[in-house]
Amino acid sequence: MRMIPNNSGPGARVEDFDLRQPLSAEDFRTILRALGRYGVLCFPGQDLDAPQLAAYAGRFGTLEVNVANLFHAEGLPEIMHLSNMRDAAGKPLGLSDAGQGWHTDMSYSQDIALANVLHAKRVPMRDGRPLGDTQFLDMHAAYEELPAEVKQRLEGRVAVHDFEKFWDVMRMRPGSIRGPLTEAQKAKKPPVRQPIFRVHPVTGRRVLYCNPGYAMRIEGLEPAESDAMLAFLFLHQMQARFLYSHHWTPGDVLMWDNIATIHNAVADYGADEPRFILRAQVMASLDYAALAA
Ligand code: OGA
Ligand code: MN
Repeated sequence: MRMIPNNSGPGARVEDFDLRQPLSAEDFRTILRALGRYGVLCFPGQDLDAPQLAAYAGRFGTLEVNVANLFHAEGLPEIMHLSNMRDAAGKPLGLSDAGQGWHTDMSYSQDIALANVLHAKRVPMRDGRPLGDTQFLDMHAAYEELPAEVKQRLEGRVAVHDFEKFWDVMRMRPGSIRGPLTEAQKAKKPPVRQPIFRVHPVTGRRVLYCNPGYAMRIEGLEPAESDAMLAFLFLHQMQARFLYSHHWTPGDVLMWDNIATIHNAVADYGADEPRFILRAQVMASLDYAALAA
């Protein structure tokens, strides 16, 4: 396999490697370390079906099964379908508005995710250019470049993350089919506490683990100070030098670090510009420090 880092910002391409093959212990370790180092890995030119994607992603940890998710591969609830397409009867083929807003997958959950693995089958195109980029910001760099007094002020502190925050933002978007969360749904996803800085298990370096999608407030600060500090962090982490915007090509497998990046799906395509993506969420269920050593 050939690893080609992007020219600027996070991310690398991994070429000449077929993800259908069983992953050797050595290749597993190489990919895990690259995930920590680069944050986003693109494996171009892949052709995986849902079970093959589940087999690859499942090597890195337990795959999330979203019981409420209607859109998944047949017989494989751990492989979600992201799509704006509909079948002949007009029934949606996938979740059409996933990730439209900066966030980290699963930060609203006590058990966090290691990585998300997406495999593009169809990419919306206009005038020969791909639409529907997925954008990433590097939270290793964002932590490192925080002012020393902010690092000190927030060390050991916790932010409360709430699933409902992002849900309600998505609901406000024009054309959203999301209803308000029911009391039963809210009870299943209560707010959780997350450290604002965590040590990345693969790199051993600190990351800023805080995102505008889910983080509500910082515990132990007055509301006004908490609001001001979160506003500062959200602005700080948004800087262009931390950014990589992935332009999709069908066949891409994109694997991103859900501890050290935040991401955003760009909703710049229409209903007649089809997008179809397979998705596997890898929970941080293994001892990655040991596996990467
Ligand atoms: C996700 C997500 C982004 C995209 O699947 O968690 O944020 O571009 N997807 O589809
Ligand atoms: Mn996401």
